[in-house]
Amino acid sequence: MARYHAPGRVNLIGEHTDYAGGLVLPAAIDRGLTLDCVPADRIRLRSSAAPGEVDLGPDGAGAVEGFGRYVGALAAELADLGRAPCGIDGRIAADLPAGAGLASSAALLVAVGLALCDAAGMELAPLALAAACRRAEERAVAVPCGIMDPAVALLGRAGQALLLDCGSLAHRHVPLPDGLGLIVVDSGVRRRLAETGYATRRRELERALAGDRDETAARRLRHLRSENARVEQAAAALAEGDARALGPILAAGHASLRDDFEVSTPELDLLVGLALDAGAGAARMTGGGFGGAIVALAPAGRCAVIAASVAAGYRAATGRATAPIVTRAADGARRLA
Ligand code: GLA
Repeated sequence: MARYHAPGRVNLIGEHTDYAGGLVLPAAIDRGLTLDCVPADRIRLRSSAAPGEVDLGPDGAGAVEGFGRYVGALAAELADLGRAPCGIDGRIAADLPAGAGLASSAALLVAVGLALCDAAGMELAPLALAAACRRAEERAVAVPCGIMDPAVALLGRAGQALLLDCGSLAHRHVPLPDGLGLIVVDSGVRRRLAETGYATRRRELERALAGDRDETAARRLRHLRSENARVEQAAAALAEGDARALGPILAAGHASLRDDFEVSTPELDLLVGLALDAGAGAARMTGGGFGGAIVALAPAGRCAVIAASVAAGYRAATGRATAPIVTRAADGARRLA
């Protein structure tokens, strides 16, 4: 029996930049999923998070619904790269909520990808596997996402963020200050626009990069340029151990996503304000937007109190319950046994 673990992620800064070849600064977190499996003739998987069984050919043939779509798309991508047709039979257990902005689909793809490569004796460099996972996500659910989520799920390190140039794929790890805690608060609201809005923003940005200069294009481009600069500023501040500098950088990032890129929501704006009022040193929406979650940074010892205060304030203002996750930067995906 082999066992694989793949983490979720939280992005500290660098949003809607990955698919435009820009900079990102995410961290893997101490929540994720574990896959136990044995070699088999087909791909058979069960999950603690979903009913039923995925049962696919070793090249992914047969995937129709649920998490099987991701598994099938990845198996097809790996077959295109020459993976031998070997299967796995296994079970997935997750302590990473799906749909909460923590990149659970990338964690699934990465864990299954490591297992499928091992089963076939296929060696794939981490960023080549990340690229295959990115293509699989697009193939499975038609969301033209970037490489950030699978890349950090594979390359994350405990106590460190990953500074990744999504154009050149150059990367290095940036230590986070000792005792810095991460709080993720899910708004519990996901706009119907989440998938189509993401694709629309990507198209708008590409139009702007191709030279269009109408008002919308100009704002989308301004976000990309200012966000890339903020990633560099944040990495420099962290290199100097100056966590306080992250407050204004993340605030400017949130404002840019809200005003120039137009992917925030009233709930995310509210949560950011609540986190700062409760004493977080920095906070902003994280992930693709149109709903989803915020990330807030605070001394680890104060995170639980801040998280409880944000949840109480959110419930008072909206009537919605939320269960914040207090986490920290953790290691990337690996074979455990
Ligand atoms: C989603 C995508 C990522 C990235 C972010 C926005 O999480 O999966 O590739 O584009 O949105 O930064």
